[in-house]
Amino acid sequence: MCGIIGISSNKSVSVSIINSLKKLEYRGYDSAGIATLFDGEITEVKSEGRVNVLEENFDLKNLKGNIGIGHVRWATHGAPNSINAHPHSSDNVSVVHNGIIENSTILKKYLTSKGHIFKSQTDTEVIVHLITENLKTDELDLAITKTLKQLHGSFALGIIFKDSPNLIVGARRGSPLAVGYGPNENYLGSDSYALKAMTNKITYLDDGEFCIIRNDQVLFFNEDGKKINKKIMELSSDESSYEKGEFKHFMAKEIEEQPTTIKTGIKEYIDKTNLDINIYNFPWKVDEINSITLIGCGTAYHSCLMAKYWFENLTQLDVNIDIASEFRYRKNRFKKDSLYIFVSQSGETADTYAALDLCNRNKMKTCAVVNVIESSIARDSNFVLPIHCGPEIGVASTKAFLGQILILYILALKFGDLRKETNKENYKNKIKGLLNLPSLIEKSLLMDNDIQAISSTFNEAKGSMFLGRGFSYPIALEGALKLKELSYVHAEGYPAGEMKHGPLALIEDGMPVVVLAPRDSYYKKTISNMQEVIARGAKVLLITNKSKDEIISENIWETIEVENTNDDLLPFLLTIPLQKLAYYSALQKGYDIDKPRNLAKSVTVE
Ligand code: AGP
Repeated sequence: MCGIIGISSNKSVSVSIINSLKKLEYRGYDSAGIATLFDGEITEVKSEGRVNVLEENFDLKNLKGNIGIGHVRWATHGAPNSINAHPHSSDNVSVVHNGIIENSTILKKYLTSKGHIFKSQTDTEVIVHLITENLKTDELDLAITKTLKQLHGSFALGIIFKDSPNLIVGARRGSPLAVGYGPNENYLGSDSYALKAMTNKITYLDDGEFCIIRNDQVLFFNEDGKKINKKIMELSSDESSYEKGEFKHFMAKEIEEQPTTIKTGIKEYIDKTNLDINIYNFPWKVDEINSITLIGCGTAYHSCLMAKYWFENLTQLDVNIDIASEFRYRKNRFKKDSLYIFVSQSGETADTYAALDLCNRNKMKTCAVVNVIESSIARDSNFVLPIHCGPEIGVASTKAFLGQILILYILALKFGDLRKETNKENYKNKIKGLLNLPSLIEKSLLMDNDIQAISSTFNEAKGSMFLGRGFSYPIALEGALKLKELSYVHAEGYPAGEMKHGPLALIEDGMPVVVLAPRDSYYKKTISNMQEVIARGAKVLLITNKSKDEIISENIWETIEVENTNDDLLPFLLTIPLQKLAYYSALQKGYDIDKPRNLAKSVTVE
């Protein structure tokens, strides 16, 4: 939820820190700050708002120091203002933090009794004073080990010390943290994206570990302060993903990249010659698995719901889904023959990771469907199915959603084939249909003008509904989420058949209602539901697929027809206009499309 950077160098670091913070803003952008150490003094500058506000308020280029830390914040404790912005510093320690310290209240009481003065309402500030207190009696590494053990909750930390002028300490528990290696300098960062501009050599800390970084040396330690060795990973140098190119926003670029996303997924998993699916090194025999539980948050949860329909359609498996923040506290009945699948673009979502950790502690079979293969969820699952869609920078997920449902569809197909619950001809025909999906998506992307024209209606309304049945229901939820998180208007995804059980009361004259009614087996029923809302004054945007058959209804406000394909694949195409609707609604309002208010790309706190 926040972004951290630290640099220990043989030259001034302020400009590099600021540049890295700009790359980290997708993780949080309520406030920003930097602290450097020069000539025995810590200088801390911070302000509310984006990194460019910090640059306007301070002459950062001339901020001296070859060692420093920086932070972009998504507020958890304390309002987003300059007092609560990180870094937080005492006379001889400065700290940046991502996570939540759950025992901060009791620690604050103890430290106040020791004479420490607190300036902010944040939980983070207790870390500063706790280290300062422990340094009164212990050497640095002991003070660090002791402090980390006294902290309850989650953290990724970057710490600098007045009395240790050439080092930065990093520590990780529950929030991601990486070390990068450069020429005569070394780095600390929340993720590889922050470090990619400076290095492609990365080491990820695991929970409980801490590190000491100098410009010419990096040391790693376990939670008991014992030195450990860690491997260095080389990252792919695909820089293009990190640039908008000719697009106005990352989200616009990532919507248009979706044909490529699908092509890459097909290349990775489909044997086109034999019309078969290759999932290498799957660690279990398929007959060891009789039920599947899919878990995720937000858009990733919608992917789980979509997968449930496909798995139930293609196999006889018992399929459950859950929202990660619910699953982690539920009285779960863990079953040895169940496979737990964790869906996450970032692979760092705290609730999803906690759900995985719970399953690992119960020795369950765990599989991650992620985009970031070096992420915590990937590293701590028994098996990983990467979605290979390249870095997704826009906070609102688009190509990662299509990547997730593609991999889950492929997995459902493979299970159906291996369990002999999908006949071979059907299996191969479905794979053949998949091969055609990228070009169908390309065609479905060509509808900007239609969408732009109708987006204002959604902006002017006090709310809207997104309705679908069966395969279209998860897409209705996803479409509503996109509109909510981008244009800040209320939108509700709902099962079309459920409207008459209450929400129909919401319908009033002129209310925009999106009805997803592809010509699949649910079509006639959904059209009936559509007529129910039209009869009560709704302005219906019907999204269906091209067909020679006339649409069996009138008084429809607007109709969008996506390309035709088999029922399984229609959800991919129905998603496209909904992504564009949300995008153009936000564009019309002039909102920050890649960084919507109050949100962050990776929610690494619960
Ligand atoms: C989607 O547009 C949102 N940004 C959000 O719902 C996101 O899908 C959710 O936070 C899960 O993130 P993850 O896929 O990285 O776990």
